[in-house]
Amino acid sequence: MQDLDGRIALITGAGRGIGAATARALAAAGAKVILTDLEAPVALAESLGGWALTQDVTSEADWETVMAFARDTAGGLDILVNNAGLFLMKPLSETSLADWKRIQSVNVEGVFLGAKHAAPLLAERASKWRGGASIINLSSVAGLVGSAGTSAYNASKGAVRLLTKSLAMELAPLQIRANSVHPGVIETHMGDEVVAGFSAASGMGDNETRVALAQRHPLGHMGDVVNIADAIVFLASDRSAFMTGSELVVDGGMTAN
Ligand SMILES: NC(=O)c1ccc[n+]([C@@H]2O[C@H](COP(=O)([O-])OP(=O)(O)OC[C@H]3O[C@@H](n4cnc5c(N)ncnc54)[C@H](O)[C@@H]3O)[C@@H](O)[C@H]2O)c1
Repeated sequence: MQDLDGRIALITGAGRGIGAATARALAAAGAKVILTDLEAPVALAESLGGWALTQDVTSEADWETVMAFARDTAGGLDILVNNAGLFLMKPLSETSLADWKRIQSVNVEGVFLGAKHAAPLLAERASKWRGGASIINLSSVAGLVGSAGTSAYNASKGAVRLLTKSLAMELAPLQIRANSVHPGVIETHMGDEVVAGFSAASGMGDNETRVALAQRHPLGHMGDVVNIADAIVFLASDRSAFMTGSELVVDGGMTAN
């Protein structure tokens, strides 16, 4: 779709779902890709001519290792996709402090650490590209509107939304853009967790819940990983050169009304 020839991209949580689709789409657009996850996605990385690394996004030491790899082996970094994330649906009364901290740790601290450690590397090559370097953070419709039973997840995705805007302000002088992406419910492992969570809360069966969730998207269905990967490729490319600090909502119209 867009020409990302010569660019080097890092995608966290790239072992499956939106992260895997994003790695495929960025590679198809010409980027060299570094895929990281709790277990290195070796087969997918090899099929894309990229690299696979083991990384826990909550570990600062892992970020240092991954950035050293990007610099020394891949040749630098132009695109960071902070995609790794966890979902939680539990009533407030059943949400433990440990639950809350686990969700904030992966969904928020992981993004903070990624931006902090990648920024120096992104800055080194940013002037090579008309649209500079690009950080893309996965927020959610849950970072825009609330819903019952998902307070920890909503708080984390709302934090990603505003963290992204501050990154945009602070990193603009370095020609690094930062934007957030806000998917509706997408058909992935996490999408199944969303269905199971709403199913348990409503007492409806999974199939009925799936239909109800599909209908909450005015376009009439849940999203596909490729819908999100396409948006991320756009934000990674020079076609979005004047976008920073923005929220790209890809939700089939769910939050339009
Ligand atoms: N699927 C949806 O409906 C949906 C909707 C809105 C936003 N999102 C967001 O999109 C992103 C990707 O979601 P998905 O649906 O592909 O989820 P998924 O559960 O299918 O995949 C998430 C990946 O993140 C990895 N991961 C989890 N914790 C990690 C950690 N500490 N360090 C490194 N990797 C870790 C997992 O191993 C997994 O491969 C998430 O940030 C999610 O919150 C998803």
